Amino acid sequence: MFANLVTLALALSVVANPMVVIRDSPINIPLMKRYHTVGDNRTLIMRDREHITSLYKHRHGGLRATDITTSAYVVNVTVGNPPTEYTLLLDTGSSNTWVGADLKKPFKPSSTTVQTGQNVSFKYGSGEFSGTEVIDRLDLGNGLVVEKQGIGAASSSSGLRAGFDGILGVGPVDLTIGSLSPNTTTPIPTVTDNLFAQGTIPENLVAVSFEPSTSISDTNGVVTFGSVDSSRFTGDIHFTSRTQVQNSSLWWGIDQTLTYGQSTPILSQSTAGIVDTGTTLLLLNTDAFVTYQTATGAVLDDRTGLLQFTPEQYAALESLFFHINGVTFEFTANAQIFPRKFNALVGGDPDGIYGIVGDLGTPPPLVPVFNSAFVNGMAFLERFYSVYDTTNNRIGLATTKFTYADIN
Ligand SMILES: *[C@@H]1O[C@H](CO)[C@@H](O)[C@H](O)[C@H]1NC(C)=O
Ligand SMILES: *[C@@H]1O[C@H](CO)[C@@H](O)[C@H](O)[C@H]1NC(C)=O
Ligand SMILES: *[C@@H]1O[C@H](CO)[C@@H](O)[C@H](O)[C@H]1NC(C)=O
Ligand SMILES: *[C@@H]1O[C@H](CO)[C@@H](O)[C@H](O)[C@H]1NC(C)=O
Ligand SMILES: *[C@@H]1O[C@H](CO)[C@@H](O)[C@H](O)[C@H]1NC(C)=O
Repeated sequence: MFANLVTLALALSVVANPMVVIRDSPINIPLMKRYHTVGDNRTLIMRDREHITSLYKHRHGGLRATDITTSAYVVNVTVGNPPTEYTLLLDTGSSNTWVGADLKKPFKPSSTTVQTGQNVSFKYGSGEFSGTEVIDRLDLGNGLVVEKQGIGAASSSSGLRAGFDGILGVGPVDLTIGSLSPNTTTPIPTVTDNLFAQGTIPENLVAVSFEPSTSISDTNGVVTFGSVDSSRFTGDIHFTSRTQVQNSSLWWGIDQTLTYGQSTPILSQSTAGIVDTGTTLLLLNTDAFVTYQTATGAVLDDRTGLLQFTPEQYAALESLFFHINGVTFEFTANAQIFPRKFNALVGGDPDGIYGIVGDLGTPPPLVPVFNSAFVNGMAFLERFYSVYDTTNNRIGLATTKFTYADIN
């Protein structure tokens, strides 16, 4: 079911499910894309892989890795009264909200803080975090205030050297189960859940607009709570139900097929994977990745861990086509390469042409069940608008003015 949001120029319309709410003044919160240095020699692809590994580990340990992407979209929030400002990574791939990733800016209790008596923790490949869970006032700006938000307050962390203070987790709430102790089966409602429950937003959904960035710190993204912003996409939003395939079904998972050019199959059968604002690249399972590499002729570059194209290969590069619930989304050749002005940040040659398709790899032995075939990460989401709709248990995608742009 599609909502033609452009032709429905409604001022404020609350329409029956499964339409989405259209407002002339959507509640937008700005997002800044930041490249941050983590001070070690792991490549972008290694970081993304650890990130994915930790998506799984979360189920068994709590929150997940934070310092393993080299770029992230962050949002400013304040917590408490008097308020303390924190810069949080916007993450659709996890659902806990917490602060204190950088222990130089720990959680600061205030008059609105209520201790829950619960511990909260997470573990991942190269570090861990633990702390206590508090209930506090969280202000996202623009009138979006949650008076009683469950927030993790980090009291110790290792291996975390991120360019942000914590995470704003807007994934499915079930991902929070297991992160508290001793109440291990208690979920922690997300910020979106709370805004909806208290009547601040008309639907339990979040919409994300990313754009290809033009500078190292660029406030070019927008997250909209409760509705979509029709100025940020073109055409219709196409919805697909969350996948039922385990274990992609735990996250914002979808089913898709993928072709290189019109006819070379990359994922030939409908396959489940996830859409994740916390992953940098577009990751494919090893079979699909090898098929893509063979079709394009790219070679794996040791220094960056990314595929590298010759100018001739790039000139001949065909579009990737994502087929999702009967709709085809074209991902151009230009969308498939890493932004060249940022090559040096990932250890690349300034004139090199690197790809953004990465190998999801084989999960390490401890995580044998992470069976998603792809992760449509930021590289994908900078070309398509995305909607995470809890009310209707579905994910929406739409083209934007950047879908076909030649920028990288
Ligand atoms: C967040 O706050 C910092 C400093 O307080 C500011 O430089 C930055 O532009 C803000 N970012 C966003 C996305 O509002
Ligand atoms: C990173 O550095 C460590 C320690 O110097 C080394 O053991 C490891 O092999 C390096 N990794 C890469 C990918 O270069
Ligand atoms: C933890 O569980 C106990 C027993 O079910 C319940 O009374 C208490 O409210 C829970 N605490 C939190 C913070 O969820
Ligand atoms: C929380 O963690 C601390 C430190 O590990 C521990 O001493 C305490 O008993 C834990 N509290 C609960 C409620 O689990
Ligand atoms: C999904 O994950 C659970 C553990 O959380 C595991 O027991 C199960 O086998 C997994 N399913 C698949 C299909 O991998």
